[in-house]
Formats: sequence, C-alpha cells, structure tokens
Amino acid sequence: MQKVSADQAQTVLQNDLILKVARGEEVERPPVWLMRQAGRILPQYRALRGKLSGFKELVETPALAAEVTIQPIDELDVDAAIIFSDILVIPEAMGLTYEMVEKKGPFFPETIQQAADVEKLVSGDSAASQLHYVFEALEITKRELAGRVPLIGFAGAPWTILSYMVEGQGSKTFSKARKLLYQNPKLAHQLLQKITDTTIAYLKLKIAAGADMLQVFDSWAGILPKAQYSEFAIPYIRQICDAIQEVPITVFAKDAWFALEELGQLDCNTIGLDWHLDPQDVRQKIGPTKALQGNLDPCLLYAPQEEIAEKTQNMIKGFKKQHIVNLGHGVYPDTPLDGVKCFVNTVKAYRY
Ligand code: CP3
Repeated sequence: MQKVSADQAQTVLQNDLILKVARGEEVERPPVWLMRQAGRILPQYRALRGKLSGFKELVETPALAAEVTIQPIDELDVDAAIIFSDILVIPEAMGLTYEMVEKKGPFFPETIQQAADVEKLVSGDSAASQLHYVFEALEITKRELAGRVPLIGFAGAPWTILSYMVEGQGSKTFSKARKLLYQNPKLAHQLLQKITDTTIAYLKLKIAAGADMLQVFDSWAGILPKAQYSEFAIPYIRQICDAIQEVPITVFAKDAWFALEELGQLDCNTIGLDWHLDPQDVRQKIGPTKALQGNLDPCLLYAPQEEIAEKTQNMIKGFKKQHIVNLGHGVYPDTPLDGVKCFVNTVKAYRY
C-alpha cells in the first residue's frame, strides 16, 4: 500500500479551514464537524452495519472503516473527517479485549483488579503497533479523501480508558474506578502511565498513517472531584500534549468545568466544550491563544429548522472567532438527518 506522509497530505488539502483555526489563523467562517458523525445517524452506515457481524468487524476491516469515515463527508459536507474506530482499541491492544454488545455498549470479560493485572499489560509501542487495522484504515481514508478535508485521529484520555478497564462496562457512577483512586492510588498511577505510554505511541503512529489533527476524549472527566482530576487526569493529558508536536491537538474533557484553568495551561491547540459552558466565561478562564470547539446541545437538532439555524448563528456570534463548530457531545443516533444538515449548512453559509 502506498503511504501518504502527513507532510505530503497537507500540501494537497483543498479545505484546511479547521487546521487554520486550530493554528490561530484568520478564516472567513468557522469550520464545522460533529462528534460521532460517522455512525448511526446515516442510513448508509446503518445499511452497511446491518450486513456485518457487529461493530468490531467494521472497526477491524480497514476498507469498511474508511468507507464509513467518508460517508459524512459525502452526505453532510462537513469540514473534517474523523476516522471510524473506538477509544477501546487501546485497552484491547494492552491485553484486555472488549465486546460491543448490541443496544448495551462495551463489555470487558476481564478487568483490572489488582497489581498483577496491571503488571501483565503490554504498553507503549509494542501495544500500539498491534493496531495495524487502524493505521491501514487511516491510509485508505487519506488516499480516498484525496485532500477534500483534513482527517482527525483520536484516542481516549487515560482517565476515561482506566475507567473502562477497571469497571468493565459503562456505568452511571463509575464507582469502581473512583474507588481505586482512594484504595490504591499508586496502582492507579501505574495503570495511567501505561495507558499514557501506549496512547502517545498510538497517536504518533496515527500521524504517520496520515492523521492531520488529533482529539483526546476525556468522556468521564466530570465524575472526578477537582483535586483528583488534577492528580489523576491532567498530568497524563499533559504528557500526551507535550509529546505531540507534529499536528494540532484538541482536548475534549466532558463536564470538566471545574478544570478549565488547568486545561488552559496544556500545550494543546483547541479545547472542546460541552453544552453547559458559556464561551466567554471559558475564554476568560483559558486565555486568548487557544481555539475553542463546540458546543450546542445535541438535542437542539430535534428542533424545528428555524430554531436550529437561529441558535447555531447565535452560538457562532457568542464564540466570536477562533471557533470550531461542533455539538457539546456526540450526535444522538436517532437525530433527524434534516436537523443535522440544517446545522451544518447554517455554519457553512455564515460569514464573520
Ligand atoms: O464519528 C465518530 O465520532 C468516529 C467514531 C467514534 C466511535 N466511538 C464509534 C462508535 C468515536 C470518536 C468514538 C469514541 C468513543 N467511544 C468515546 C468517546 C466519545 C464519547 O462519546 O464520549 C467513548 C466513551 C466510546 C466508547 C463506546 N463506544 C461506547 C460507550 C459505545 C456504546 C454507546 C453507543 O454510542 O452505542 C460505543 C459504540 C460505538 N462507537 C458506536 C459507534 C458508531 C455505536 C456502535 C454501533 O454502530 O453499533
């Protein structure tokens, strides 16, 4: 397979709006994409998915992962593609396999309980380099996109990945994961370091395979007290941001309103905001240099089209500039496609 280096790819990008904003350059309108844009909102995704044994077959078959990554570019004309994969490939590469149970979500048959479990995990490059199907999916996508829009690579933040590895599945409280921080903080730090080493190696391989920009998802940031977020989450996200200098990086820590000042100190280009946050409050807390991404309530896309258009325009005005338009979290699977299109088209018609 022909490899496309990040440098080569960037010279042929026809639409680099999102990279410009991430780097602090002036643009005539904000770029727009949606978290979870590749997935169940699209009939063409559901059709393809219906023919397969399950979610993992899609994730692990590079040509199919590339196909669903490009579907929202064709259908919605958004300004970036995000590679179709999951944050849970990292625990799997480290030695904890996951299942994706239909209508329920992720399930890990084995979880992390004690020191011996952490010791036997593979980490760093030896773990990350096993994920060849992801890198191949990036290479195919990059080639098939042919420079239409930049390609975003992603990973879970170490705290969120730890939560799944300890809990074994989704949870309302993630109390098993939080309990570990009190009962065995040393073990938690060891595990977080192994996840971090693997994530850095993984993101570097994603860049080598063609990712033009990266996003780190800390989906469960909001369940920690501020002091624990400072101790168990921020230092590991910082290591990731410091290690990635090749392409712009976004940190999306959901419900981490209490940690905005610390997030603002990270060496990242963009901070993702959930829908609770007021852009001007955030701007004050994180300072003038970073781009902000977000942050409409995903449920707005169920509203009448006039309301979607009006609230989208108001949001853009509220952010002023240095803004990448998105929702405040992933788009919900049953969102009407017309609502999504109205949102995207409103942004694309906007001029500062
Ligand atoms: O379009 C995109 O955003 C790219 C693809 C993507 C998926 N998962 C595909 C997916 C991305 C970026 C993710 C990240 C992810 N995965 C996160 C962080 C973002 C967030 O939502 O906070 C988390 C926490 C996961 C773990 C995960 N994967 C859960 C909890 C679930 C089940 C819940 C659900 O949405 O169904 C998944 C499954 C999953 N990952 C699906 C998709 C499209 C649905 C599976 C299907 O098609 O059957």
